[in-house]
Amino acid sequence: MKVISSIHELRDQLRGQNRVAFVPTMGNLHEGHLSLMRLARQHGDPVVASIFVNRLQFGPNEDFDKYPRTMENDIEKLQSENVYVLFAPTETELYPEPQQYRVHPPTDLGDILEGEFRPGFFQGVCTVVTKLFSCVSPRVAVFGKKDYQQLMIIRRMAHQFALPTDIIAAETVRDSDGLALSSRNRYLQPAERAEAPRLYALLSELRDAVKNGQHDFAALEQAAMRTLEQHGWKPDYVAVRRQADLKTPGANEVEAPLVVLAAAKIGATRLIDNLEI
Ligand code: PAF
Repeated sequence: MKVISSIHELRDQLRGQNRVAFVPTMGNLHEGHLSLMRLARQHGDPVVASIFVNRLQFGPNEDFDKYPRTMENDIEKLQSENVYVLFAPTETELYPEPQQYRVHPPTDLGDILEGEFRPGFFQGVCTVVTKLFSCVSPRVAVFGKKDYQQLMIIRRMAHQFALPTDIIAAETVRDSDGLALSSRNRYLQPAERAEAPRLYALLSELRDAVKNGQHDFAALEQAAMRTLEQHGWKPDYVAVRRQADLKTPGANEVEAPLVVLAAAKIGATRLIDNLEI
């Protein structure tokens, strides 16, 4: 595997490759990321991964500085997945000057749910993804359903800009107790780690309740938030939404494909998860 930090060198290395399958990451790779690499291989060749902790998507009080950076371990993992190139630019390579041109997702998608609690997050994500796509020129790119809203926003961005990159969705990988794998799980203290699977358990209960005909979504959401609070969590949201556009389903839309999404803090760690219904 070649580890490349310069955009120029990356383009030289990939010249003539028109089936590149790309997996952008922020590093601290776990089994979830590796499953994205395997899915990428099914859709293209060669597989290119990137590791870049993107300052633009972190709020002023978020964990940019302490975000886990584990490059040596990550390289070993990517090598064992036969990744062809790891693009790992420095900040000065990707943002040699202040990034004044930004990609703004529409507010009805970018400012709800995660966007409400992390203002500017999706603008930072869309901007860096656009820039990474411009460096890698991928035929396909893989994003995890764990970040459901991110996946949807990037898919729409690719569609509206007619980008020559198909967006592929990968299923969430979970620990045996249901906790969705995330780089931020490593912040959890042992007691918090023991409590953390409750988020998935609650989402599963909510999904089952909806499937079994309970359609008072607001009541279900509030009950789930209360349960989280009773167990020491600080929930930002628990929300039943339409899969198509993440809008609240109307009373006569219970047959539409739905998804239940949640974000909550346990101790100092903010976890997100979702389940399609
Ligand atoms: O999901 C992530 O890890 C990041 O948001 C991404 C897509 C790599 C952009 O920085």
